[in-house]
Amino acid sequence: MSAPRLDVDCLTVRFGGLAAVDDVSFSVAPGTVHGLIGPNGAGKTTTFNLICGLIAPTGGAIRLDGRRIDALPSWGRAQLGLARTFQNIRMFNDMSVLETLMTGMHANLAESLLASLLRLPSFRHAERAAIDKAWALIDFVGLTEAAHRRSGDLPYGDQRRLEIARALAGEPRLLLLDEPAAGMNPSETQALEALLETLKGRGVSMLLVEHDMRFVMRLCDQITVLNFGRKISEGSPREVRADPLVVEAYLGAKVARSLEAPP
Ligand SMILES: Nc1ncnc2c1ncn2[C@@H]1O[C@H](COP(=O)(O)OP(=O)(O)O)[C@@H](O)[C@H]1O
Ligand SMILES: [Mg+2]
Repeated sequence: MSAPRLDVDCLTVRFGGLAAVDDVSFSVAPGTVHGLIGPNGAGKTTTFNLICGLIAPTGGAIRLDGRRIDALPSWGRAQLGLARTFQNIRMFNDMSVLETLMTGMHANLAESLLASLLRLPSFRHAERAAIDKAWALIDFVGLTEAAHRRSGDLPYGDQRRLEIARALAGEPRLLLLDEPAAGMNPSETQALEALLETLKGRGVSMLLVEHDMRFVMRLCDQITVLNFGRKISEGSPREVRADPLVVEAYLGAKVARSLEAPP
């Protein structure tokens, strides 16, 4: 069997006396969407920060396609194909939508820096290709009309889709999404779900943190549930929502019942 896209093995981080992530293991199979859910403070964002290299673990291992990445700096992990979006949006306010997407391609463009300094024709080709790719991505996330607007002026849902497009610009092997639907209205949430569904259809592997349970249950192949930093459950959406530990710690009986009913 081939290595999982992402393998998190006995991951732990302590902040003072608190184990924010406590001996957590799970893996994401290539081409699947894996959910990471649990109440506020369960350690979901901290797990993302550990995977991306924003903070260092106290113990455990992280592998991307079988290769240890936990000692690499975050830029090194990005180069190997990790991309993420943030729970609290971080947009380049003064840049246009098109410019924002170009910043997501810096890794590819950097290779042609020498060519650009020497003004070689290959740089112009690379730049042209990057611009074409940016337009294709803008189109893909439905922001063509807004391409020249300041990204900071976009409605919230569009900013989040731009953030996803920017993460996709580097052609990641794994996309980490931290509460992408938070703060969205129902129609924005629906558009986001359709977008992620399309990405999934194209074989993009994703790790998804989200509180909208219908969204999570429809999109995810597998789900890991955290509570107080520890893994309390794992399985298919059906298995997880029927797990009494998950109902008690997170879902509540009413939500669990409503998820059984067709939407
Ligand atoms: N940098 C930090 N220093 C100290 N405690 C932190 C830090 N980051 C997160 N925590 C704590 O770790 C726990 C998990 O937080 P977090 O990962 O943000 O939870 P979630 O994303 O699941 O809501 C919380 O108790 C939070 O207060
Ligand atoms: Mg969080």
